[in-house]
Amino acid sequence: MILITGATGNLGSKIIETMLVRIPADRIAALVRDEHKAAHLKEKGVNIRLGDYDDPEALDKAMIGVEKVLLVSGGRAVNGLEQHQNVVDAAKKAGVKCIAYTSRCLTDRTTVANDLMKRHFDTEDYIMASGLNYILFRNILYMDTLTIFLGKNVLATGIYLPAGEGEVSYVLRSDQAEAIGHVLASDDCNSRVYQFTNSQTYSFYDVAKALSQLSGKEIFYTPVDPGTFQNKAKELGMADFAVGMAIAFMTDIKNGQEATVSDDLEKILERKPATLTEGLKLLFNL
Ligand SMILES: NC(=O)c1ccc[n+]([C@@H]2O[C@H](COP(=O)([O-])OP(=O)(O)OC[C@H]3O[C@@H](n4cnc5c(N)ncnc54)[C@H](OP(=O)(O)O)[C@@H]3O)[C@@H](O)[C@H]2O)c1
Repeated sequence: MILITGATGNLGSKIIETMLVRIPADRIAALVRDEHKAAHLKEKGVNIRLGDYDDPEALDKAMIGVEKVLLVSGGRAVNGLEQHQNVVDAAKKAGVKCIAYTSRCLTDRTTVANDLMKRHFDTEDYIMASGLNYILFRNILYMDTLTIFLGKNVLATGIYLPAGEGEVSYVLRSDQAEAIGHVLASDDCNSRVYQFTNSQTYSFYDVAKALSQLSGKEIFYTPVDPGTFQNKAKELGMADFAVGMAIAFMTDIKNGQEATVSDDLEKILERKPATLTEGLKLLFNL
């Protein structure tokens, strides 16, 4: 049995969808916090295990009969690392053979600006020290985050971000999920790391150009400094925490943290991942 956590989230549900094409539903278990959100999975024959990363007892129960676990990284909880450690500890206690984790693909952990990213490195360390066989899926920034960073009105407003000329090898979340589903449905669990990135990188100038081509309107990217971005974002009513998050992500982009290029994803998908233009067309309904 393969247990997928975060099964009612965007990534987890698409992973299960991919696995269901390859292996029988009764070999898949979904860890969920709210059974109602998992009704569609239950209907398909997926085993439902109730549990929260904060509840070690529930995690122990959820691991019964499980050979492989995918830990989907949690949200922004301040104890996020401890939550991940709880899942790894429960897996080890239950004699699970293999643990997989959705990490992030960043170039240099010593200079990363975004505090939220640090727990990914720390979780990887914890998993590697656990003695369990592991698979680390180092995912690049989802292309889907562009809908958040650019906003719904980007065609009217243009792009103002503190990302300089930084480039990102964006991948659609659905492409990452499909590849993760393929790997998990296979029998392979020799400790290894996948870097799931696109085959090229894109700057916000490229994003503006692609949006211009798709919409027929001229869209410009104007790099701004973090202070200017903060003032403008606050004027527009953006919450403080969201402004801070956006600046942290953009700083890492500017510093080249999101610019790794690998062919791991293409090999697993046996096709090229969606390009920036293909992805933006989908994400912005263009
Ligand atoms: N690579 C990137 O660009 C990128 C971007 C954004 C996020 N991420 C990371 O990737 C993860 C998956 O992305 P996503 O789009 O699928 O996010 P999502 O839709 O928010 O899903 C997160 C899942 O984690 C579950 N979860 C959160 N806290 C939990 C807890 N304490 N105990 C048990 N389950 C918990 C949620 O359960 P509920 O359904 O009950 O809420 C949900 O199913 C995110 O959580 C985040 O860590 C990566």
